[in-house]
Amino acid sequence: IPVDPFDLVIFGGTGDLARRKILPALFRRFCSGQMEDESRIIGAARSDLTRDEFRQIVAEAIAEFNTSKDCETGTVEAFLERIDYVNVDAKGEDGWKELSDLMIPGRVRAFYFSVAPSLFGPLAERLHAHGMADADSRIVVEKPFGRDLETARALNATLAQHFDESQIYRIDHYLGKETVQNLMAVRFGNMLFEPLWNSQYVDHIQITVAETVGVGGRGEYYDRSGAMRDMVQNHLMQLLCLIAMEPPAKFDPDAVRDEKLKVIRALDDVEPANIVRGQYGATKGAQDYAHDVENPRATSESFIAMRVNISNWRWAGTPFYLRTGKKLKARSSEIAVIFKETPHSIFGAEAGRHRNILTIRLQPNEGMDLDVTIKEPGPGGMRLIDVPLDMTFAEALGPEGEDVPDAYERLIMDVIRGNQTLFMRGDEVEAAWAWTDPIIEGWETRGDRPVSYEPGSSGPEDALVLIHRDGRRWREIR
Ligand code: BG6
Repeated sequence: IPVDPFDLVIFGGTGDLARRKILPALFRRFCSGQMEDESRIIGAARSDLTRDEFRQIVAEAIAEFNTSKDCETGTVEAFLERIDYVNVDAKGEDGWKELSDLMIPGRVRAFYFSVAPSLFGPLAERLHAHGMADADSRIVVEKPFGRDLETARALNATLAQHFDESQIYRIDHYLGKETVQNLMAVRFGNMLFEPLWNSQYVDHIQITVAETVGVGGRGEYYDRSGAMRDMVQNHLMQLLCLIAMEPPAKFDPDAVRDEKLKVIRALDDVEPANIVRGQYGATKGAQDYAHDVENPRATSESFIAMRVNISNWRWAGTPFYLRTGKKLKARSSEIAVIFKETPHSIFGAEAGRHRNILTIRLQPNEGMDLDVTIKEPGPGGMRLIDVPLDMTFAEALGPEGEDVPDAYERLIMDVIRGNQTLFMRGDEVEAAWAWTDPIIEGWETRGDRPVSYEPGSSGPEDALVLIHRDGRRWREIR
């Protein structure tokens, strides 16, 4: 369904995120017919470019990063027609008048802050000063949203001076992933799971986001963040919330976000013994973490595993194990809900007691499977085996399941439609920092250092111990 004509201004329009994600996502939405012809995308950055030069950058970004197969030839030219460019100085006065002259009154306009957080304030201020912060405007901000509670509060306060909360879209791109949304569909669209979704039936839950890449060219940023700030405070926390929250009364922004916030507030503090931090070492032909971030004394972590408890009626007694890291053995993200064993085996001790496992695969191979116990075929008596009921989207849904839209496509269109359900509210972000801050401060005061792990492995040995101690084991990363 096409969205109403809009103007999307991308501050930092020539930057990495714009080229890799934002522009290709908009192009795909254009190909699918969701963007009306009058809609415009306006790049805004410091570089002194002409409109044609910026269009060239956009064309190159599409050639390099668009993965969709369903764009017809000729669409790139039509898309480029929608592109404009203004040279704007975020901290000065240059370009602002030109930008405001371009705006069409009464039309939805979104300002995407794809820039360093230090520019959020100056940009919001200037948009306001130049009459562009009206009721039709919304702003989109990227992570990192602060680096602790104090900085996140300050950012929220700055944005709140010029924009209402209903106009602020804080992106966590994990919420735009198709399977993450499916998590809510599965939980609240079926009768089957919800009655069992509690500590009485669920033994534990594992959330794994494993990457094969290292820190890439982002060493400086990454070393200041580590996996805790880069992944746990936001992406893993959001997954945890969606898995653990109470059913919202409706699928509406505040109803969903209220429930997520309650989960964050119910998280216990994490004891140091329940966290393992790792740093990847060197391997043949590749240097170690400290070299990658160009800091021989780097103390931040590229891997983290932790046991988290939610102290509320539903989850007390069911631990959540979270794990994320770089340079691991496979790129694989999943949530596994491991149910309790059957209380008794009517088939005798040798048949064993079995458990169901629901696995939601975020990437790759988006889909779900549910391990169920059945009789092993054949005349050999009542032997039981566990087999997965597999729903791989690409197989179950045909071509539509194969061409899964990128998270940014969904999220940007939601901004235009004015739907904040899949965006983080200010209080949610602050609550997440309030939970992570003491953990990070603890490492700093104690001078804790991450342990080393082998690139291409499943992470440090200590992470295995963390879960073995509880008589459980990690799901294999594959
Ligand atoms: C980003 C992190 O937010 O998410 C990166 O900053 C990480 O370090 C990335 O690699 C992972 O996203 P995805 O979509 O590839 O799982």
